[in-house]
Amino acid sequence: MMSDILITHIHKLVQVREQTQGVVSGAAMRVLPELENAYLLISKGVITDFGLMDNLSSGIKAATTLNASGRLVLPSFVDSHTHLVFAATREEEFVMKLKGATYQEIAAAGGGILNSARKLQLATEDELFEKALTRVAEIISTGTGAVEIKSGYGLTTKDELKMLRVARRLGEQTPLTVKTTLLGAHAVPKDKSKEHYIEEVINEMIPAAAEQNLADYIDVFCEAGFFSPDETERIVEAGKQHGLVPRLHANQLGRSGGVQVGVKTKAISVDHLENIGTEEIEALKGSSTMPVSLPGAAFFLGLPFTPARQLIDAGLPLAIATDYNPGSAPGGSMPFNISLACMKMRMLPEEAINAATINTAYTLNLLQSHASITKGKVANVFITKPMRSVAAIPYGYSNNPVSQVILNGKLITENK
Ligand code: NIG
Ligand code: FE
Repeated sequence: MMSDILITHIHKLVQVREQTQGVVSGAAMRVLPELENAYLLISKGVITDFGLMDNLSSGIKAATTLNASGRLVLPSFVDSHTHLVFAATREEEFVMKLKGATYQEIAAAGGGILNSARKLQLATEDELFEKALTRVAEIISTGTGAVEIKSGYGLTTKDELKMLRVARRLGEQTPLTVKTTLLGAHAVPKDKSKEHYIEEVINEMIPAAAEQNLADYIDVFCEAGFFSPDETERIVEAGKQHGLVPRLHANQLGRSGGVQVGVKTKAISVDHLENIGTEEIEALKGSSTMPVSLPGAAFFLGLPFTPARQLIDAGLPLAIATDYNPGSAPGGSMPFNISLACMKMRMLPEEAINAATINTAYTLNLLQSHASITKGKVANVFITKPMRSVAAIPYGYSNNPVSQVILNGKLITENK
């Protein structure tokens, strides 16, 4: 039988798992299985075989053969936290920050999320889709193969659903695997009381998003000045009634109680975690809630970084995602976030790659199909530029390590 793609002479085939691997926690995070001098075979969109070059049967033929000598092959990154549908960048606020304003001060002055919402409400669905396509191409070129996209810049039922439709369309019309999250409770719009808005989220947005199958998850910005733990719980429980699985914005700006309410409501993940300590770590132990760090957002806002060593050394898992959004993380590069995780959070390269593949995939229910080199999984992989080991990915912190991208078994970009 003729296969579609055969990659030969791979210096290192990385994240090889004979079987689907569950969440990677604690000391196991530094184990990243590799095969040296390997081949990888792809057919009909899935990984059909892999092994050592010595064992490659000469009878194997493929429509396309790629020689990856001196290069690594990895499963595509899974970015489990983005807001990549938005109408406009916010570089004016970036300059305000450089002059000394804080994220909260900018938000209080009508900037921040409300600024993004005003612009998004004026944009058409097609405009938003076109703009997001550019960002999709960008993240594909840096190795992302699956992504979660949130609403949260609509802040009316109509506009939240509009954002979610754009996100769904990106999943249908681009090679990325897309999961969507309703984040109606991202901020309270200016013209409504908080109580009135929460009722709108619960009674209108959640039922409509679920009914039209526009959202897989429900998220709340649980933070002082935004939504309290009690309000978060009410919203999340309403989402669960409609089949939406919770994932939360927790402990970004302060010790908000977000982690605890995430664990209590069985959220699949609690994301950000710039401000956590022993209590939050204790709460996470024994739970099914994945802690997710977004190092790009801590970097951009000058916040403390997630205490990765404390979490991992306590035996917990950790995941890494980008938070790609116009306000706190205006970039969607997983390799850059892996660099930050290593340089600022003292994660080892192997830990950071497990965090950016298997552990993020867990939160999106993509473990069975994505995030490792395993027979039968979706053929989402990339070939790196010439490099000796995975440590070169975080080491070359402003370089794009990706050379060629294969998504759903198709060769789709060549960065060279
Ligand atoms: O994840 N923290 C809340 N939401 C986004 C930022 C939103 C914005 O500023 O537009 C975040 O950092
Ligand atoms: Fe976010």
